[in-house]
Amino acid sequence: MLFGGAGSSKTWKILYHVFTRALLLEGSRHICLRQRFEHVKSTLWPSAKEMCQSAFPGLWDQIETNKSGGAWTIKVNDSEILFGGLDDKERVEKHLGAEYATVYINECSEIQDENAVNLISSRLRQKIDGRHLLFCDMNPPAKSHWSYKRYLEDKVPGRTSFKINPIDVRENLPNSYIARLEALPERMRQRFLYGEFTSDIEGALWSWEMIEGTRAGLSGEDGRTVVAIDPATTANKDSDETGLIVACQKGNGWKVLEDATLKASPDVWAKVALGLYYKHGADCIVAETNQGGDMIKTIIGQIEPMVRVEEVRATKGKHVRAEPVVALYEQGLIEHAQGLGELEEQMMSWVPNVSPSPDRVDALVWALHNLALNNKPCLSIGWA
Ligand SMILES: Nc1ncnc2c1ncn2[C@@H]1O[C@H](COP(=O)(O)OP(=O)(O)OP(=O)(O)O)[C@@H](O)[C@H]1O
Ligand SMILES: [Mg+2]
Repeated sequence: MLFGGAGSSKTWKILYHVFTRALLLEGSRHICLRQRFEHVKSTLWPSAKEMCQSAFPGLWDQIETNKSGGAWTIKVNDSEILFGGLDDKERVEKHLGAEYATVYINECSEIQDENAVNLISSRLRQKIDGRHLLFCDMNPPAKSHWSYKRYLEDKVPGRTSFKINPIDVRENLPNSYIARLEALPERMRQRFLYGEFTSDIEGALWSWEMIEGTRAGLSGEDGRTVVAIDPATTANKDSDETGLIVACQKGNGWKVLEDATLKASPDVWAKVALGLYYKHGADCIVAETNQGGDMIKTIIGQIEPMVRVEEVRATKGKHVRAEPVVALYEQGLIEHAQGLGELEEQMMSWVPNVSPSPDRVDALVWALHNLALNNKPCLSIGWA
C-alpha cells in the first residue's frame, strides 16, 4: 500500500509496476479498480495512457482497447489490463469471475468495507510464473478507516506500506504546487502535503466516515436545485466569509454540487449567487436573514427581479439546526461532488459552541433543510 500526499506519483508508480508485470508475464491478466467507474474514466485511464507513453516508448501503439475502453490488451503478448469501478455491480461480478496476476485498487480510502478488498484479492490466482500482487494507493484518511489498522498497525507477513510525499518528487510537479498545498487548512495540509492519517475531532458533528460515505454516488436523476447563502455582514479582512452552497435532489437523496464561499461585499456575492443560480438551473436562492442579512432580497431583486429568494431566519441554535442534516449523512443519503475539500474540512472540524461560526456549513445546512427537511418548493415564494 502506497500512501502519501497529493501528486506524489503513487498512481504513476503502481501503474508502472502493473504494466511491467503485464509485459513480463505473457498472457497474464491484471485489474485496476476504483470505487466509482466515472472516476476510473476521468482519472485512471488518462494517467495510465500518460504513464505508458512516457515510460514505455512505442508500447501504446501495441495496445488494443475494447469498445467500452475498460479492457486493454497488449498485442505482442496477449496480456490484459482491465479497468473497473466497484459501483458497477454487473461488471464487478463479471470481473470477479476471472483470475488475476495483479490487482490494483486506486484511492482505497474511498472503500468503506475492507471485505470488498479481501473479496477482490481472493481472485489473485491466475497461474503465472511469479508472485501475485495486490497494490493499493491513497491519500491517507482518518485513523478509524480500515486501511490504518490493516497496513500500519497489524503486522501481517507479506503486507507492507510505504509513504511518499509531493516534496519527495517535486521535480515532477509545477513550482507553485507545493506552495498551494502549504496554504491549505490544517487537516487538509496534514493529508495532502504530509501524507498523515488524521484523527476525528472530538465533538465534531461529522466524522471522516460520514464524509467518505458521500463518495459512493447516488442513483437517480437530479431534481430541484437551490443556492443557499449565509451572508457575512461586513467585508473587510477580519470579517467572516459568505457561505455559498449549491445542492439538489438526486433520486431518493441529495447532492451537494458546489461550494463557492467567498469573502466579498454584498453586491459581489449577490452576483456570484445569481451566476450559480443560472449555471445550475436552480429554482430559488435560500438566504439567511439574521444579522443584517435582510438586505439580500433587495440586493438580488435590484439585479434580477424575477429570481425567487426564500428568506430563512435562524430561530434555533446552529447545532440544533445541523443535527437532522447530520442524520441524512449518517443514512448515506447525501452525495458530494468532487472538489468540496474546504467544506468537508469545516464539517469535520466544527465543534458546536467551541469553534468559530462555520460559514460553509451554515449555508450547507440551509440548502439541505430547504431541499430535504422542509420539502417546500420555492414556487409559492415569488419576488414581491
Ligand atoms: N516518474 C515520473 N515521470 C514523469 N512524471 C511523473 C512521474 N511520476 C509522476 N509523474 C507526474 O506527476 C503527477 C502526479 O502523479 P500521480 O498522479 O501518480 O500522483 P498521485 O500521488 O497518485 O496523486 P493523487 O494523490 O492526486 O492521487 C502526474 O502529472 C504524473 O504524470
Ligand atoms: Mg493517484
